[in-house]
Amino acid sequence: MNAIEQSYDLRPLKIADFEQITSLWRSTDGMSQLESPKELQQFLERNPNSSVLAEENGVLLGAILCGHDGRRGYMYHAAVSAYARGRGVGRAMVEYCTGHLKNLGIQRVTLFTLDDNCPAKEFWKHLGFRQRKDITQFALDLKNFD
Ligand SMILES: CC(C)(COP(=O)(O)OP(=O)(O)OC[C@H]1O[C@@H](n2cnc3c(N)ncnc32)[C@H](O)[C@@H]1OP(=O)(O)O)[C@@H](O)C(=O)NCCC(=O)NCCS
Repeated sequence: MNAIEQSYDLRPLKIADFEQITSLWRSTDGMSQLESPKELQQFLERNPNSSVLAEENGVLLGAILCGHDGRRGYMYHAAVSAYARGRGVGRAMVEYCTGHLKNLGIQRVTLFTLDDNCPAKEFWKHLGFRQRKDITQFALDLKNFD
C-alpha cells in the first residue's frame, strides 16, 4: 500500500455524522434496520468513542457502529464506500473498534451478517473471526409487545 492509499483518517463517529453515515449505509447492500437519530444518539451516549468513521479530505469512506453491554462487544453496519474498498479501510476500522473494546476490558466482540452475504463472511473470516454455527438467534419486537 503506498502513501496516497493510506491518506485517510479514522476518528470517532459522532451524532453530527448521522446524515452522511445513514446515506452510506442506505446505499450499501446488506445493511438493515438502520437507527433513527434518537436511537443513534442513545447508542453513542452509552458507547462514547467506540464507533468509527473513516474519511479522506473530508469525504466519508466508511463507518462501523460499535459498542458493548459491559460484558460483550458488538459491531454493526460495517461498510466502506464501493470506490474505496480493497485499500485496507475496513480492516483499519475493525482494528480501531476491537482495540477500543479491548482497552475497556471487553473480551469478545460479536457481529451479525446476513446469511447470504458471502463476501462479508469471507472478510470476517479473513480477519480472524469465527463463524458461530451453534447459535440460533431469537428476537422480539418490543414496540409490538404489551
Ligand atoms: C466488507 C467490507 C467492509 C470490507 O472493507 P474493505 O475496506 O474493502 O476491506 P479491506 O480492504 O480492509 O480488506 C481487509 C482484508 O480483508 C480481505 N478481504 C476483503 N474482502 C474480502 C472477501 N470478500 N473475501 C476474502 N478476503 C477479503 C482483503 O484482501 C484484506 O486482506 P489483507 O488485509 O490480509 O491484505 C466492504 O467490502 C463493504 O463495505 N462491503 C459491503 C457491506 C458489507 O457487506 N458489510 C459487512 C456487513 S456485516
